[in-house]
Amino acid sequence: MQFMKKVATKSTETVFPIIREALKGLNEINRQNISLDDFLDFKLENKNLRKTLSHLFLAYFRHRQAIENFLAENLSKINKSTSEFLSIAIAHIKYQNGIAPESAINAWVEFSKKKYSIGFSKLVNAVLRKALNANELEKVLLPDNVKSHWEKSFGSEFVEKMTQLYGEYAPFCFRSALNFALPEEFLTAIRGEAIEVKNSIFKWYKAENIKELLQSYYLKDGRIYIQDIATGFATTLLAEYCKKATNLIDLCGAPGGKAIMASEIFDNQIAMTILDKSAKRQKLTEENLKIRNLQAKVLTADAAKFESAEKYDIIIADVPCSNSGVFRKRPDALWRLNDRTIAEMAKIQSEILDNAAWLCADNGFILYSTCSIESCEDGEQVQNFLKRHPQFSLLRENLNLPNSITDGAYAAILQKK
Ligand SMILES: C[S@@+](CC[C@H](N)C(=O)[O-])C[C@H]1O[C@@H](n2cnc3c(N)ncnc32)[C@H](O)[C@@H]1O
Repeated sequence: MQFMKKVATKSTETVFPIIREALKGLNEINRQNISLDDFLDFKLENKNLRKTLSHLFLAYFRHRQAIENFLAENLSKINKSTSEFLSIAIAHIKYQNGIAPESAINAWVEFSKKKYSIGFSKLVNAVLRKALNANELEKVLLPDNVKSHWEKSFGSEFVEKMTQLYGEYAPFCFRSALNFALPEEFLTAIRGEAIEVKNSIFKWYKAENIKELLQSYYLKDGRIYIQDIATGFATTLLAEYCKKATNLIDLCGAPGGKAIMASEIFDNQIAMTILDKSAKRQKLTEENLKIRNLQAKVLTADAAKFESAEKYDIIIADVPCSNSGVFRKRPDALWRLNDRTIAEMAKIQSEILDNAAWLCADNGFILYSTCSIESCEDGEQVQNFLKRHPQFSLLRENLNLPNSITDGAYAAILQKK
């Protein structure tokens, strides 16, 4: 809601690369069902545009429902690609920093004339000019299907709260390493403050001067880690229940956030294996371990199929999920949320959990976690697992719904008898 506009005029040609990448990105995100993060990290060709496109897409997804309503009201029938073209153009002229709306409109009109036709450019011109003054486009709305789905699961008061959160940026949170006392001068420099988190073994902070934080030596040498507070709800369970463990495998471990927390909890006295299906993300895991001087076996494999003669005292299964609890940071996730995608995720999660049961040593533990608030990925998933694997019992579970400070997350600790 607090999307500020800086006014700058730009020649139309200089905006074309942004338009091209925005259209290509939207097409890939929608057709290939990939996340915005994966598009920006792995598919975006012009890396210089990362910041601009990230900002544009975040604003687009937050306003997408309002934009779709506006187009439905103002145009009788348009095909999918025209709708996508106009939607991202509207996001660009309405919510983008660093370009005057008039310059942005001219660029989109010129682009559509060159690439398509004069007729199409006239339509683009008319729609964008009307959009510029449309107050309803300032609104942030949950996608219609998510709204009705959450109304059924959690009620209308929850939906109201989540709609408000959808329009807000999450606070920029980080934690300090367990053996490190963060100096007060540093907190002052990053305009940071400590956040009180009940029962947490980690110390959490939020910062306003993000640039200073990102350049800080403590980030580079691993004494601080940028993470949401909700990630700590899962790993704190390890400290409570698994004190005698000697080895651990993190089945979906990249880029190492939870494994590094675990290693700190066990004072580096635990043998760690970190698995992930993505070789690209495992490069980040290796970097994160290296800067902290931590040792671990880093493997690229499918967690549902990974075989090992060694059995593990702790299995962390921080599984891929619908991301419905982290919609402030990933507003695109709610646009992929539907019965089919949730069922697909739940299937992958149950296959990973079944393999975790097999990899788990007697009396060992499975720490299952998601950043979803969907019960079929969370509590129901765990109850179904317990039915298939009666040798396990649930020691504790915790569902944290998204709020103004933390993301939504679920964690359960299970023990094999
Ligand atoms: C929630 S993230 C893990 C975050 C990580 N635990 C951390 O704290 O930094 C889920 C991870 O699962 C990985 N993944 C997805 N499907 C997988 C599979 N079948 N086997 C192993 N890893 C998988 C993704 O590449 C992604 O890195």
